[in-house]
Amino acid sequence: MRNRFGKELDKLAKEYTASVSFDKRLYRHDIAGSIAHARMLWKQGIIPEKDAELIIMGLISIREEIEHGKFQFKEELEDIHMNIEARLIEKIGDAGAMLHTARSRNDQVALDMRMFTREAISETIAKLKSLQEALLTLAEANKDVSMPGYTHVQRAQPTLLAHHLLAYFEMFQRDIERFQQCYQRTDVMPLGSGAMAGVSYPVDRSAVAKELGFSEVSANSMDAVSDRDFVIEYMAAASMAMMHISRLAEEIVLWSSAEFDFIEIDDAYATGSSIMPQKKNPDVAELARGKTGRVYGHLMAMLTTMKGLPLSYNRDLQEDKEGLFDTVDTLNLTLEVFAAMIASLHINKERTRKATEENYTLATDVADYLVKKGVPFREAHGIVGKLVRYAIECKKTLAELDITEYKRFSQKFDKDVKSITVESALAARNIPGGTAPEKVQKALGAAREKLNGK
Ligand code: ARG
Repeated sequence: MRNRFGKELDKLAKEYTASVSFDKRLYRHDIAGSIAHARMLWKQGIIPEKDAELIIMGLISIREEIEHGKFQFKEELEDIHMNIEARLIEKIGDAGAMLHTARSRNDQVALDMRMFTREAISETIAKLKSLQEALLTLAEANKDVSMPGYTHVQRAQPTLLAHHLLAYFEMFQRDIERFQQCYQRTDVMPLGSGAMAGVSYPVDRSAVAKELGFSEVSANSMDAVSDRDFVIEYMAAASMAMMHISRLAEEIVLWSSAEFDFIEIDDAYATGSSIMPQKKNPDVAELARGKTGRVYGHLMAMLTTMKGLPLSYNRDLQEDKEGLFDTVDTLNLTLEVFAAMIASLHINKERTRKATEENYTLATDVADYLVKKGVPFREAHGIVGKLVRYAIECKKTLAELDITEYKRFSQKFDKDVKSITVESALAARNIPGGTAPEKVQKALGAAREKLNGK
């Protein structure tokens, strides 16, 4: 291996450059890629059939060794690719030495990373759908529950809880679409690019792509060995998904506090305090919020790693792995536990109902009432502003004011102003995308259809 060099690699340098401790995670993809490559080399007459057979059998048994914990990974062999190749030669002799014909570790590792990322995307999409399922089921089971909608964390207008939950359904739907698009761009087969200029053998790249389930082969060898934008795209889509999860997490933290008291987290997803016996903490939500930072960090790290790299392959690219692996693990685990926690949430309906009625959340509807009687909206806004200030001063709700009090602020007020309720406010927002029960019912149906996949 060190034929060109006068001495062995320094021990510390060896440790510094080795990646097998983490890239061994790519063993399945590496072996599948090598099997497809060997078969193609044989079919193209580049290596003899008997050697290809030995290689394929050898690789399958190495996969078993790894899966049964019998494979000895050696740091001095640097990475997963050389570990497997060295073991193959050890097992089958000279035939093993033919595997690396018409291939470089540069296109090999690009292939492995693309295969790994494709799998990760499929898993992430499935888990995003499970989270959508949990949200949708919770919304369906509580479709009549009202709650105050907020802006600036101040009670704003009545909404349905289901409408609020469906907002997250939409966010996760866009996340799914981002991952689906990321899949398309990841689904490109780089083998045949060699070290960077393409290989000088009559390889059949399409056959390899077909065997490995890729939709296309890469169009430019230099791009194929040096580009990791599919990794960055996964990380970016993951960051966006974590951002959405984190927002929901924040609401769960708020809603489960005594101050809001809108929900109760199931005991299976809450923890206690080591000193305060009464505490029940929303740790799953807090950690999901917390782990978002680390996922963003991996994205920044990878963008920064790539930014100064001239074409084509540079060893810096080895830094793509740990960040990607941790991103995938963090996101997928977060999605799984989060979905389970959401599914077990208890909604405190009386409390959300009461909160919907408090704090003058119907003021907009009172202004709209005046608009319907011909008052320009800005003027109506001013009138109701004064009315609310008056009500606050007499410590009354709008419902508790009598009609003569209303009339002091505008002669347009009539008895029917008293028929403005949470229900009428909800029902009034009967436009596409609005919180009217009729529209939310439709939105629930549309979400269900989308999820159950037409
Ligand atoms: N471990 C390397 C990586 O992850 C594999 C490719 C090595 N190529 C090379 N020319 N040293 O990028």
